[in-house]
Amino acid sequence: MTQYSDKLYKAVNKSTIEISSIDQLDSDWLNNTLEKYTFCIIKGLIDPDVIRSAKEKIKEYHSPDNERPATGEHPDELMNNFQKLSIGGAEHSGVYRPRCMRTFYNPVWAEDIFGLRESFKITAQVRNILYGFDKDYAVDEVGNEFWTASRIHNYPSGGGFLVSHKDNIVPTVQKKSKLSNQYFQPVILMSKKGTDQDCDFKTGGGFFEVFGERFFYEEVCELGDIIIYSGETIHGVADIDLEKPFDSRKADGRFAGFVTLYKKFKKKKELNDFVEPPKNKVVI
Ligand SMILES: [Fe+2]
Repeated sequence: MTQYSDKLYKAVNKSTIEISSIDQLDSDWLNNTLEKYTFCIIKGLIDPDVIRSAKEKIKEYHSPDNERPATGEHPDELMNNFQKLSIGGAEHSGVYRPRCMRTFYNPVWAEDIFGLRESFKITAQVRNILYGFDKDYAVDEVGNEFWTASRIHNYPSGGGFLVSHKDNIVPTVQKKSKLSNQYFQPVILMSKKGTDQDCDFKTGGGFFEVFGERFFYEEVCELGDIIIYSGETIHGVADIDLEKPFDSRKADGRFAGFVTLYKKFKKKKELNDFVEPPKNKVVI
């Protein structure tokens, strides 16, 4: 396990809370903690057994034959159960951001094939409290042109990764649409790093940088924890288990859940109206 500075361990302690219901989440604590440390960890809202069961279901559901490519789908297709494998630089999205990852889109109005509906709803409520929105904004339905793109990212063994970066696509769309000026990403922790039975990988993993240190939160957090970090901090996913062979027929390696607010686009490539195509291949 990576050794971090005392300063970082102290920040982790100070920015972690355990609660048993969403009503116990205090928006002042949330905002103050994020302002001071740029991240926080919320424990107790999602049952680890739900996550264990969801991963089994994802592995069963996954089929390489259903895998769609990195781009080319109609925006409506993402608003249903939908699976894609993204390999490449992703320049079509407006920034050069190399990756190797799967996405399982699983909105709350689609069939609950992974048993994650309640977990996604709670995490979307956390997001809303953070942004100062009504607690149920865009949770069950499309609200004010935005919807909750609940989904699972899967970084396969044998080199799944997402280059380190700062967020700028979704924040730009949200800013230009006057939804919000700040951007924080809540992540449902679905994999641990290490060797115990809840661990899905040994090397690499999700990280964000604090005090100049790369913090691999899956080394210290538990299944079902909700991690929130600022999109302005450098973050990414370091290569997952490079010593293992990459097998496109299997959904193995690291999993993580997201509830990002997506704008409801009505046509292909509408994103280009909001984000200019990259002029240079600058990663961060
Ligand atoms: Fe990001």
